[in-house]
Amino acid sequence: MNDDLQTDYLAALIALHRGLDRQGPGDADFARALLRELPPLPGRPRIADLGCGAGAGALLLAEHFRGEVMAVDVVAEFVEALGERARRAGLDHLITPIVADMAALDWPPACLDLLWSEGAAYNLGFERALRLWRPLLAEGGIAVVSELSWFTDAPPEAALAYWRAAYPGMGDEAANRRRARAAGYEVLTTSRLPGEAWWRNYYDPLRARLAAWRGRDLTPAERAVLRETEAEMDLFARFSEAYGYTFYVLRAAEDGRG
Ligand SMILES: C[S@@+](CC[C@H](N)C(=O)[O-])C[C@H]1O[C@@H](n2cnc3c(N)ncnc32)[C@H](O)[C@@H]1O
Repeated sequence: MNDDLQTDYLAALIALHRGLDRQGPGDADFARALLRELPPLPGRPRIADLGCGAGAGALLLAEHFRGEVMAVDVVAEFVEALGERARRAGLDHLITPIVADMAALDWPPACLDLLWSEGAAYNLGFERALRLWRPLLAEGGIAVVSELSWFTDAPPEAALAYWRAAYPGMGDEAANRRRARAAGYEVLTTSRLPGEAWWRNYYDPLRARLAAWRGRDLTPAERAVLRETEAEMDLFARFSEAYGYTFYVLRAAEDGRG
């Protein structure tokens, strides 16, 4: 893809996700269940949601903990949407929306008790993201990071071929546990996001959006986004037993080793 098409493609991808609750698969009840099972956090935990999109996670975290959440995304439009949603929910005094690159945060070491990141670490690579974020965690700090993961060591060939091209670094859960330990975390638990949550909270709203797109003239970039989003959904419909989002619940290891 040349640079112009790449820029147009990203713009089309952002437009496709504009105004949606979520920009990736996730689920509020599932997230709350994970939060209830976390080891005790300080009374007023310092929290960040990295790659927050329009803030489904940040809103839930602020509501759950009644604590302050720094919410970071590189796409200004999503961050603005989060600001608006926080105001509407009466949570704007708790949420700080920040437009920034989550790979280059100039925050002080040990400034977080809980780092949350849904569907975003892959942009940096799972292990790289975990390594970059590890210094931000206070002693005993917790990271909850979801990552697209193989659920089997023998994935179907069609799924393997698709993800080998789309996300070459995708690993199975055992590999991701090893990566987390290598990046300085203890792996507390792993939980798979149920496949229905992908449809209900992400793909179905996207499908409705794509149906509206089909009724109008599309740019080449929009056509590419439409084609690829449909291909991704078709693949998930066929192979959701073989892969999905696993939430890795991690604790900063004392000596920086898992
Ligand atoms: C699949 S979306 C998930 C968004 C949100 N966490 C959710 O679950 O709805 C991934 C997000 O990561 C953001 N992102 C990608 N690279 C980033 C970076 N380097 N720094 C900050 N955000 C980034 C994207 O803009 C996008 O909003």
